[in-house]
Amino acid sequence: MTDDLSPATLAVTAGRPARDPGAPVNPAVVLSSTYVSAGVPQPGDPMYTRYDAPTWHPFEEALGALEASPLPALVFGSGMAAVAATLALVPRGGRVVLPRHAYQVTLVLTADLAERSGLQVQTVDIADTDATLAATHGAAMLWVESPTNPMLEVADLPALVAGAHAAGALVAVDNTFATPLGQQPLVHGADVVVHSVTKYLAGHSDVVLGAAVTGDPDLRARLAAYRTTHGAIAGPWEVWLALRGLRTLALRVERSQRSAGVLAARLAEHPALPRCATPGCRPTPVTSGHRACSAASARSSACGRRAGGPRRTRWSTPSASGCRPPALAGWRACWNDGAGSQRSP
Ligand SMILES: Cc1ncc(COP(=O)(O)O)c(C=O)c1O
Repeated sequence: MTDDLSPATLAVTAGRPARDPGAPVNPAVVLSSTYVSAGVPQPGDPMYTRYDAPTWHPFEEALGALEASPLPALVFGSGMAAVAATLALVPRGGRVVLPRHAYQVTLVLTADLAERSGLQVQTVDIADTDATLAATHGAAMLWVESPTNPMLEVADLPALVAGAHAAGALVAVDNTFATPLGQQPLVHGADVVVHSVTKYLAGHSDVVLGAAVTGDPDLRARLAAYRTTHGAIAGPWEVWLALRGLRTLALRVERSQRSAGVLAARLAEHPALPRCATPGCRPTPVTSGHRACSAASARSSACGRRAGGPRRTRWSTPSASGCRPPALAGWRACWNDGAGSQRSP
């Protein structure tokens, strides 16, 4: 039914109620922790909102369709909750290979898991396909973030998925920055896609939310079980707002990329800048798995600020995180690329 719709159209149409005469065009918000049971609850019956909630379903359907999954997504209380659930797929003592410049709280979480539960962690330059594939031998999971936050390195997704699978590793992709409009990792064979829905998908800086998507029923059941037992669930209002935000995803991404392109071109010529960490700003391997990389304006603004760049510019364009106030430049300037203390949003 949705196969022939473009992702941009799916973002607008998926997860709507049936088009019956008189029916609302938007799903309802259901605020209930418990549900009436007709006898002993059967699997799939609504029962208790930590297990499942009707307001999650339209968003989960829409994101599943956008990521070209045969199964609905799973919404989580934050992007980090989805990251934690996905990393929990690694068996005890197993090794995860991940980008040295992955989202820094993901790196903090893997370090924590290494200490507490024996997770083995190996970081790589994810843009270096050969080195990354060499590291996947004997690994339980390859964690890809492409583009990375904050360095915007781009991975060769199809090559990494094929090589990691050949080495017996699961492949999880944090698709927060690319969005499903930029790349659909499941199409390239990835096992799990993770999102900080807080960013582009919701897009208005008013919710914190996460999601995981997989086309594998067994992996989905394990991720759902993690969500239930760890209580990593989302509130109905947040999920409804995220679905509303998702409707304008294509417009926001397109405008964000255009703005970032203009900024990147200007900053690339700035004499004080040693380099500009934006995929369109320096030679970057563009692969079939990466159709339209988001040159996040957030990166460019930090770049300019650090170099004593344009301080009076108003950074009010939609960024990876939605429509944000000028504080963005200052926030990004706090980034510490070294191993020391780092501040995150
Ligand atoms: C790439 C990436 N993954 C995961 C996260 C974590 O998401 P959240 O802040 O929604 O927990 C972030 C947050 O900035 C991110 O940028």
